[in-house]
Amino acid sequence: MRKPMIAGNWKMNMTASQAVFFLQSLEEELRYLEDDVEVVVCPPFTDLKSASTVIETDNFNVGLGAQDMYWEEKGAFTGEISPLMLTDLRVNYVIIGHSERRCYCGETNDSVNKKIKAAVDHRLKPIICVGETLEEHNLGNSLDIVETQLLEGLVGVEIKQADELVVAYEPIWAIGTGRNATPEEANDVIRHMRAVLGSIFSPDLAGKIRILYGGSVKPDNISSLMREVDIDGALVGGASLDVATFAKIVRYNK
Ligand code: PGA
Repeated sequence: MRKPMIAGNWKMNMTASQAVFFLQSLEEELRYLEDDVEVVVCPPFTDLKSASTVIETDNFNVGLGAQDMYWEEKGAFTGEISPLMLTDLRVNYVIIGHSERRCYCGETNDSVNKKIKAAVDHRLKPIICVGETLEEHNLGNSLDIVETQLLEGLVGVEIKQADELVVAYEPIWAIGTGRNATPEEANDVIRHMRAVLGSIFSPDLAGKIRILYGGSVKPDNISSLMREVDIDGALVGGASLDVATFAKIVRYNK
């Protein structure tokens, strides 16, 4: 019922020319892939134009996402990128509230909320990231933390259809550390997140919203994660930077 999604978050990696080469190689790798998994790549802002051109010219069936955006359409906000700038480049998705932005760039649940609203208003699909720190995890507070992040991040957000947004559970202690949550641990938190989404929207809508897992996803752990009933895909960082590795993750069920 929920189409699996594998999204690559390139973070601050790859120049525009490297992005073009990567996408052309990925296209080759995924040539015979059936349409049963949605694939998304999220390059840095400076790569989006070239990436968009390759995707359009080659009619490549891959979604394009940005890694952040500002909530205003235009104005005196030096260094920021607006939703209009993204939609003009045929960007479909935007990661909002990644833990690296929360930790290093002062992102709060309030700014996340403004960005999610702006994205939805502009028909950009936010990939909303939530997750707890190692300390919070060890104190047994994971469920409370993700619940607060969802409730505050989604306050006043209105969607009509489940595919207008995607949510990702990314425990901070599992990002880039090689230490991933076990499939059962991830599924327990994601099941709770779905219940929270049910209280915000409706249980019916929440049952159709895709919730991804992110944090040290690799070709050798993706299949076991995807076997869990509530995990609908993965947000992949480090392992999305190598074409062959990323393609293996996309083909997890082959
Ligand atoms: P990782 O990053 O796969 O390198 O752990 C995931 C993410 O931050 O989205």
